[in-house]
Amino acid sequence: MKKIAVVGAGYVGLVTGTCLADFGLNVMCVDTNNEKIDMLRKGNIPIYEPGLEDLIKRNMYYKRLSFTTNIKAAVEEAEVIFIAVGTPPADDGSADIFYVRKVAQSIGQYINDYKIIVNKSTVPVGTGETVRKKISQTMKERGAKYEFDIVSNPEFLREGSAIYDFTHPDRVVIGTNSDKAREIMKSVYRVLNVNQVPFVFTSIETAEMIKYASNAFLAMKITFINEIANLCEKVEANVQEVANAMGKDGRISPKFLHAGPGYGGSCFPKDTKALVDIGKKYNSRLTLIEKTIEANESQKLIMVEKIKEAMGGVSGKTLTVLGLSFKPNTDDVRESPALTIIEGLISSDAKIQTFDPQGMEEAKWRLQKYESSIEYLNDEYEASIGSDGIVIVTEWHQFRNMDLGKLSKEMKDKYFFDLRNVYDRNHVESFGFNYYSVGK
Ligand SMILES: NC(=O)c1ccc[n+]([C@@H]2O[C@H](COP(=O)([O-])OP(=O)(O)OC[C@H]3O[C@@H](n4cnc5c(N)ncnc54)[C@H](O)[C@@H]3O)[C@@H](O)[C@H]2O)c1
Repeated sequence: MKKIAVVGAGYVGLVTGTCLADFGLNVMCVDTNNEKIDMLRKGNIPIYEPGLEDLIKRNMYYKRLSFTTNIKAAVEEAEVIFIAVGTPPADDGSADIFYVRKVAQSIGQYINDYKIIVNKSTVPVGTGETVRKKISQTMKERGAKYEFDIVSNPEFLREGSAIYDFTHPDRVVIGTNSDKAREIMKSVYRVLNVNQVPFVFTSIETAEMIKYASNAFLAMKITFINEIANLCEKVEANVQEVANAMGKDGRISPKFLHAGPGYGGSCFPKDTKALVDIGKKYNSRLTLIEKTIEANESQKLIMVEKIKEAMGGVSGKTLTVLGLSFKPNTDDVRESPALTIIEGLISSDAKIQTFDPQGMEEAKWRLQKYESSIEYLNDEYEASIGSDGIVIVTEWHQFRNMDLGKLSKEMKDKYFFDLRNVYDRNHVESFGFNYYSVGK
């Protein structure tokens, strides 16, 4: 049985390591964060991802999955080393590969036999080569010489359905120029291979580009329907019907055609900026993506304006913001539109009462400078007491089917901003609310 190391136990690394262990492989997850590794060793998980906790416990029980901060041991023991560390945006928008380089350096320091280094982090084109050079140089400095191959294996999972996505991918992309590495990667993903999942074998550079091109396209698709939604409002068309009919066209597909407050999360915002940066570096501008980023920023502010306009200003008013995570079923609030909308409302002197099933802790930390204007409540009903308006920013299931009678009972005024288009206007209005949606 091959030994696998997954370096970086975040959303991607933890899911990758756990699912590979569930495929029957022997996996060590490595992270520099002691607290995280301690928690994991005790069977507690540091993130919210449906189904992950049970899967981790099961694979720990069967001793196929372990957690360590000891990268030396992991590099020495594993034949295949996945890099799944963060690649956050630098100030200029480019992807910062500092952590990836750090891991490459550790691999160069401790490599003791043939290894395959698989890059799962989303990285600029050319990073595979950077990793190769860093490992070779570090090995040389210690007077060692071992063979190794580099593979780019970008990850397409979505937070909230990460386990399903990892185990049922639309495709697995393997970028490498080594036949040996390709065969070993096929055996790592044997379970998916026998399940007829399409495998795409490419060069390292092409694999790196596939990830950015895919995310940028999806971000652009969301932004496209958001702009159409804004126009629909002006011309009295219904964006849901427009999207529905558009989606019936096989060339378009119905996915990612839901109008809303703009995309967020740890991937689309940073990956679009990184791709634009790569384009600039190579003097090949990506003007569509540049405009996508701009339009997405405006979309969040358009939501704030929509609320202010409908209510005749929000100064001194209280708004109930439901949903803080960038999408349902995750505790991840990185770049969530909810943060920008809350900031916008508070700068116009509104008070916020909010609730999110999983994202409150991280949101509190990210919104600390607005502490005095935000109250974090225990559920949607508590958050509506004394409020002037409801703003649904993230469509958690429990916000899709609220008891509107109960919700409105102790509100001061009755505005309802359904920024995810999950309610029927007539139904909401029947409870005395003034209903506003996106693009209908
Ligand atoms: N989150 C997603 O939905 C998603 C999906 C596809 C791809 N990606 C990409 O995958 C990568 C990881 O994203 P994430 O969301 O899992 O990040 P994350 O921030 O949740 O996790 C990264 C982890 O790496 C650890 N780390 C950093 N340096 C380390 C080192 N030298 N050794 C060991 N551990 C180290 C950190 O402590 C952290 O736990 C990024 O490049 C991201 O763009 C993310």
